[in-house]
Amino acid sequence: MSFLVGHNMTGGYGGADILHDCTIGVEKGEIAVIVGPNGAGKSTAMKATFGMLNLRQGSVMFDGEDITHLKPEERVVKGMGFVPQTHNVFTSMTVEENLEMGAFIREDDISGTMAQVFDLFPILKEKRHQPAGELSGGQRQQVAVGRALMTRPKVLLLDEPTAGVSPIVMDELFDRIIEIARQGIAILMVEQNAKQALNIADKGYVLVQGANRFTDTGEALMANPEVRKAFLGG
Ligand SMILES: Nc1ncnc2c1ncn2[C@@H]1O[C@H](COP(=O)(O)OP(=O)(O)O)[C@@H](O)[C@H]1O
Ligand SMILES: [Mg+2]
Repeated sequence: MSFLVGHNMTGGYGGADILHDCTIGVEKGEIAVIVGPNGAGKSTAMKATFGMLNLRQGSVMFDGEDITHLKPEERVVKGMGFVPQTHNVFTSMTVEENLEMGAFIREDDISGTMAQVFDLFPILKEKRHQPAGELSGGQRQQVAVGRALMTRPKVLLLDEPTAGVSPIVMDELFDRIIEIARQGIAILMVEQNAKQALNIADKGYVLVQGANRFTDTGEALMANPEVRKAFLGG
């Protein structure tokens, strides 16, 4: 059984279904990447896995437990961290306040975890007293990922963590994501930088119109001529 899997998910936002029998998931210690065209339902699939959608069909299993009917905040308590595609930091709050907000479910001492986040993203330590809104795009994404790490998740859901950053910053962010995965946190992420992301992925999903089009190892998807031609720019 998979560590985390949204299985055969069907549903949407109340109108027509957006997801059709869609399955995404990740194993412990793995990086799984979801790619596909704009509007394919990648974000919707992530939200469904995190419990932000009323599914008509399908289930979500996590760490051996059926969590299909749990609310997002209950999933956080179980060990899920989610970084949404937009509005993922509080811009008027400082970096440190953002990290403190991230730890909202904890009542124990969070200073050790904050130190770990600062080790991973040293620039955030330097800028900890600055409002997050004053940071660059790449630094803000670090705040967003750091905020999610504050609950010490077992799995991290990242929706386009490298959106709007330069190629160099993207590479750096991917290196940090690999480091997080090596610490034993499973990573399930949506990426528009499909080639680069599949390059570091253990497993990849190509979604089209709310359904699975291709599922394979990152390597196999990169080598698949059909996938290359239609989704990776040749
Ligand atoms: N909050 C929402 N309410 C209604 N429809 C939505 C909402 N968010 C997204 N959609 C629709 O769901 C479809 C998939 O969107 P999305 O999951 O954001 O795609 P992707 O992340 O792959 O670009 C699109 O047709 C989009 O218009
Ligand atoms: Mg999206």
